[in-house]
Amino acid sequence: MNIRLSSGKLLPIEMHKIKIVQETTLPPVGQRDQAIRAAGFNTFLLRTRDIFLDMLTDSGTNAMSDKQLSAMMVADDAYAGSESFFRLADAVRDVLGFELLMPVHQGRAAEHLLAKALVKPGDVVLMNYHFTTSKAHIELAGGKVLELFGKDALQTQSSNPFKGNLDLDRLKAAVSEFGQERIAYIRMEATTNLIGGQPFSLQNLSDVHALARAAGIPLVFDGSLISENAFFIQQREPAFAHMTIAEIIHEMMSYVDLFYMSGRKSAAARGGLIATNDQQLFDRILPWLPVYEGFATYGGMSTKEVEAMAVGLREMTAQPVASSSADFIDYFVERLLEEGVPVVSPAGGLACHLDARRFIPQVPQSAYPAGALAAAVYLTSGVRGMERGTISTDRDAQGADTLADMELLRLALPRRVFTLSHIEYTIDRLKWLHVHRDLIGGLRFVEEPPVLRFFFGRLEPVGSWVDDLRAAFIADFGAEF
Ligand code: F0G
Repeated sequence: MNIRLSSGKLLPIEMHKIKIVQETTLPPVGQRDQAIRAAGFNTFLLRTRDIFLDMLTDSGTNAMSDKQLSAMMVADDAYAGSESFFRLADAVRDVLGFELLMPVHQGRAAEHLLAKALVKPGDVVLMNYHFTTSKAHIELAGGKVLELFGKDALQTQSSNPFKGNLDLDRLKAAVSEFGQERIAYIRMEATTNLIGGQPFSLQNLSDVHALARAAGIPLVFDGSLISENAFFIQQREPAFAHMTIAEIIHEMMSYVDLFYMSGRKSAAARGGLIATNDQQLFDRILPWLPVYEGFATYGGMSTKEVEAMAVGLREMTAQPVASSSADFIDYFVERLLEEGVPVVSPAGGLACHLDARRFIPQVPQSAYPAGALAAAVYLTSGVRGMERGTISTDRDAQGADTLADMELLRLALPRRVFTLSHIEYTIDRLKWLHVHRDLIGGLRFVEEPPVLRFFFGRLEPVGSWVDDLRAAFIADFGAEF
């Protein structure tokens, strides 16, 4: 939550106390150099002991509340008919307004079941923007993804508060081009992960709903960051400024035919769920649940996590929880803008995103600027981010790189994990790196998996830029840090 200081400045303040901590260490730059080489310049392949601040993701890495932990102690481990399931079903009904629930082990499991049940070869799925796993499952089912984002969605510097909006003219055109038979569903991703956690407005969701309803096409909502999108609606869309997060979530859900989420983000538990009030949609998906996930009352999740997700869903509607990472991200983004470091603006949910194209314009997209920046940031700070650029897209059928729309380095802020001095430290090192940006060069693949290559791919630097950057860092800070 933001508190106004006597100077007039806003301070994002922690509305929680820390009861349990995990130690972290800041490995010296020499150790970081060895670690990033051993990881093939892929931050996914680093291990925790070599990392100071882990900003890879907010997925499954949020601080859990005391109430979540205590709920885990009363989990009912029944294979079928677990009481834990019914407590989750109550939370889903109260918070989201849906009567029919399928737990799944995480978000991509929901995407898999949805694609399996609803997408047939030749179908298209229309969406505001794709996410890596959602796209992979739709394509594996023989479908195609069509992104219908608005004009400035891909502009990293913008004043548009809702860059996640789906463009209604493009939607109308796509509906008349493909028709109801070929459009499996329309998917709205609440805060668009790959374009900087940008939200959509409630007005946009309601307009998309009206068009989808008129065309007889189901509207699917990816709510992995639903509480953050609701928070942005409250803060940025004047018509809804008076509403609570819980009320905004209810209003959003009134437009949705089928909801799914990775529970690892807004709900701060390791799981996921699918929910709906549409019995027909539910019946098409349910048979696949025990085939791929587990019985209908646990869906591949541990019952402890089912309990934690039930509490997490209720807690995400509290103002201090819904705003906890968004306010930190806003502070992070605004401070970097002050320092002249190129970031995606306005601030979104999930993370602070560095714009690698503007940070290191000398590195062409074919040499993976966002991946190079991820390696450089880790080397000079011990902070682990995630490449969200061309490495995160797979090659086309001819084997050529699919150049990503954006080259972003994502520094994710899991909820209630980092303190403001962690953020200030990171800002300082990013500022230093920006001054020394000319030293950074590109990367090339040495090992490349055929699908979702960003997870396990290994790369190497083009030239000796890593040595030069390390030497410049040691000249300024010494070898200890
Ligand atoms: N949808 C969105 C919008 C997501 O951000 C994610 C995961 C998923 C679906 C898949 O959920 O990981 O539980 O299987 N995003 C993670 C991230 C991986 O780091 O941004 P999952």
